[in-house]
Amino acid sequence: MSEIEVQIEDIREENLRDIPASCSGCVYWEFPEEFEKAKKEKAETQKLKLEEKKREWFVQTLKAFGTCGKIVYHEGKPVAYAQFGPSVWLPNINAYDSKPVGKMEEGVVFLSCLYIADKTLRRRGLGDILLKGIIDDLKRRGFKTIETIARRGDPNNPSGPLEFYIKNGFTFKDKTNPDLPLMRLFL
Ligand SMILES: CC(C)(COP(=O)(O)OP(=O)(O)OC[C@H]1O[C@@H](n2cnc3c(N)ncnc32)[C@H](O)[C@@H]1OP(=O)(O)O)[C@@H](O)C(=O)NCCC(=O)NCCS
Repeated sequence: MSEIEVQIEDIREENLRDIPASCSGCVYWEFPEEFEKAKKEKAETQKLKLEEKKREWFVQTLKAFGTCGKIVYHEGKPVAYAQFGPSVWLPNINAYDSKPVGKMEEGVVFLSCLYIADKTLRRRGLGDILLKGIIDDLKRRGFKTIETIARRGDPNNPSGPLEFYIKNGFTFKDKTNPDLPLMRLFL
């Protein structure tokens, strides 16, 4: 159990600006072509363009799906972030070998990002708390399963390392790529 005092808030249009800087312009899952194209442009132009795309994704997904992200605040500052949603709106899933990711019609939600931005707060239970917040939310809304692609032995991955998901009760759904397996938890 963490001793860190935190508040978890759903992402809404009003707090989109609190998404941590390293994630606010990351459209890796949502718009993979734009993500690749922007790498060739000037840093500032690129950042503004991608932040607008990210905003667009959140506004549309909030309307059509409901809550699709959370921000964790500590001492009034955003320190962690998560994003999740229907797999069809996170098309870069198709670039992975471990598949298929379940569909929203089957009650499946994909966890695309889980990120403790403040590195001094890692390994202090915050990831567990944030994941539990997402699971409770999805259960309440009647979803059946949460899935994610985890990276074996390496935390450098959008939703973090495999070990974190094993610890939180996830099991393997597909290990076509054993280093990047598709993990799931029945809610
Ligand atoms: C993965 C992550 C969300 C976990 O959050 P956290 O608050 O650090 O993790 P917790 O303290 O809740 O850890 C719970 C358990 O998960 C496992 N775990 C967490 N991080 C781990 C790591 N880096 N390696 C192995 N196991 C890990 C451990 O079993 C841990 O329990 P323990 O500390 O008692 O051993 C966080 O480390 C993170 O943000 N990593 C970077 C992810 C990233 O780069 N995302 C990119 C966004 S584009």
